[in-house]
Amino acid sequence: MRTRLTEEFGIHYPIVCAPMALVTGGRLAAAVSSAGGLGLVGGGYAGTLGGEPELGQELAHVQGHKFGVGFITWALARVPHLLDEALSYSPLCVFLSFGDPRPFAERIRRNGAKLICQVQSLRHVDQALEAGATIIVAQGSEAGGHGAKRSTLPFVPEVADYLARCSPTTLLLAAGGIADGRGLAAALMLGADGVVVGTRFWASAEALTPPAATDRAVHATGDDTVRTKALDAVRGVPWPDEFSFRVLSNKFTEQWAHRETEAAAAFGSLATIYAEARARQDFDVMAIVAGECVGLIHDRPSAGSIVEAMVTQAKALLARGATLDFGPRTANPGLPQTGGSASR
Ligand SMILES: Cc1cc2nc3c(=O)[nH]c(=O)nc-3n(C[C@H](O)[C@H](O)[C@H](O)COP(=O)(O)O)c2cc1C
Repeated sequence: MRTRLTEEFGIHYPIVCAPMALVTGGRLAAAVSSAGGLGLVGGGYAGTLGGEPELGQELAHVQGHKFGVGFITWALARVPHLLDEALSYSPLCVFLSFGDPRPFAERIRRNGAKLICQVQSLRHVDQALEAGATIIVAQGSEAGGHGAKRSTLPFVPEVADYLARCSPTTLLLAAGGIADGRGLAAALMLGADGVVVGTRFWASAEALTPPAATDRAVHATGDDTVRTKALDAVRGVPWPDEFSFRVLSNKFTEQWAHRETEAAAAFGSLATIYAEARARQDFDVMAIVAGECVGLIHDRPSAGSIVEAMVTQAKALLARGATLDFGPRTANPGLPQTGGSASR
């Protein structure tokens, strides 16, 4: 598959593994790159959250592969020297999301890395263009983890049109809800040069995700996720107000997800409960971070087989589209043989 993204990085497939905090370590990034995509190591909260893997160690695992690194921008602003440490490993690109990328752009460029900015609104697109981003990722609210309000289906083509007018050489990727070849093919049709995939790789063999979390997720449907600010209020993580957190529903979110103000007010006592649950990996309380496409995920295969299946399915769908013969719908290859979501 050839797109402007595959040309830009000399990769085989237009599939990027999202730099997921506490999930995309060096092994997952390396596995995606070995399979022909591009793996981005999750620099996450730049060490400010606690419990994050040591970035240098993860970057060491990915040496010898094509790779990039990603940060949560507002967190990186608190420890900006971490960018220099990451750049010392010579990533192909740095992916910044959730905050103003402009203060970091020059340093990234000077070190020969491309800047990728994930955006959630047209205002963010303008900031990314001012920062000189090579690639913009339009993230829809279906996405797992943090995000904002726009939905992938209308947001991606709107950004594609905007870039066609204002900056046609800037590449565009789609993120949010893309878990199989249908999503990849659709994203290319919407005008994207490729996709950023999070939740699907979150449930892969090489991810740092605790098995107990994916064991729950494979039985969940897309109805079982919720977007809330309550969890950050409870954890005391200072996320900017425009972003909320999509997670799998559990006992804790059932109680607090729609009571954000009360959760913030109860910060002290809830923070203790949350921290204790995190220490014992109690997923009735602790967040399981996954997007709406969790309803398309029923297993935890290798990242390489995920890339291969996405590409095979997307190619078949695009070829079939070219014949304009849409015939009856065929079952998605990833589906379990018996039962639908209602019987799970
Ligand atoms: C477990 C998890 C952790 C994430 N952590 C980050 C992060 O640290 N930085 C970031 O820019 N995006 C993060 N994201 C969001 C991804 O960049 C991406 O937008 C999203 O995963 C795409 O949607 P999908 O999950 O439906 O594939 C995370 C997503 C998930 C599922």
